[in-house]
Amino acid sequence: MRINSPKLNIMYKACMKASKSLIRDFGEIENLRVSSKGSGDFASSADKRTEKIIIEELLKSYPDYGVLSEEAGVINEKNKTNRWIIDPIDGTSNFLKGIPQFAISIGYEENKEIKNGLIYDPIKNELFFAEIGSGAFLNNSRIRVSKKKNLKHSLIGTGGPDCTSKLKNEIFIEFLEVSKNVDTPVRKFGSATLDLASVACGRFDGFWQRELSYWDIAAGIVIVKEAGGFIDFIDNDVSESKKCNLVASNSLIHKELVDLIKKKNIEKN
Ligand code: IPD
Ligand code: CA
Ligand code: CA
Repeated sequence: MRINSPKLNIMYKACMKASKSLIRDFGEIENLRVSSKGSGDFASSADKRTEKIIIEELLKSYPDYGVLSEEAGVINEKNKTNRWIIDPIDGTSNFLKGIPQFAISIGYEENKEIKNGLIYDPIKNELFFAEIGSGAFLNNSRIRVSKKKNLKHSLIGTGGPDCTSKLKNEIFIEFLEVSKNVDTPVRKFGSATLDLASVACGRFDGFWQRELSYWDIAAGIVIVKEAGGFIDFIDNDVSESKKCNLVASNSLIHKELVDLIKKKNIEKN
């Protein structure tokens, strides 16, 4: 790992250990998918297995640190200063369908600020990581956001809405609005954490999505920022208890993308 950081080393170790079991489970999903047994329950236990390994490894080094993890919820609630924010599988629907677009996402938060982020795509063997002040990396290479100057020629990603969203129609209208302003069709790849990693390394010029959870984005926030990108929250601040509306992009198209999305102001409709 190119950054010599105790926190990142521990996150890396936990992630690599968990990814071995995740890759095995992904192979099993392929078999289940073509059998008649179905794969829903299996995916949910793969999620929990991955999460258990990550949490055990992280707490081995820092037993009193807080944890906020998608499946396990909150651990060591009293410690609000140092916390691990975990999504054991981001892109579960892809995982379930045998689509190799999912990742482990681990953020480290200190005094309410994300200091370290690590996103691992175990199928492509791509490890994205950053520590505040030390830059962002993909495997052994420094990464930076794209240099695209205008929205029209940008490749933009998004996701959602979830089937339970009360803003479904508005979110679809917003999708249309952004789509009309870009030459290349907007992408929806189904893993918000990998979408943020894609902004960080310049594959996407920008990404936006409403109603994300804190564990979807914690690691990605610091990775995008350390890659020189901008992050904004629309209609709300980042908060673990509420859904977040996030825009991430390179600095050059950021205002254009945020203005276009803000113009809709869909929460107030
Ligand atoms: C989901 C993915 C997806 C996004 C959803 C998230 P999960 O996380 O990030 O891309 O559109 O809003 O809930 O359920 O796969 O961990
Ligand atoms: Ca997620
Ligand atoms: Ca998840």
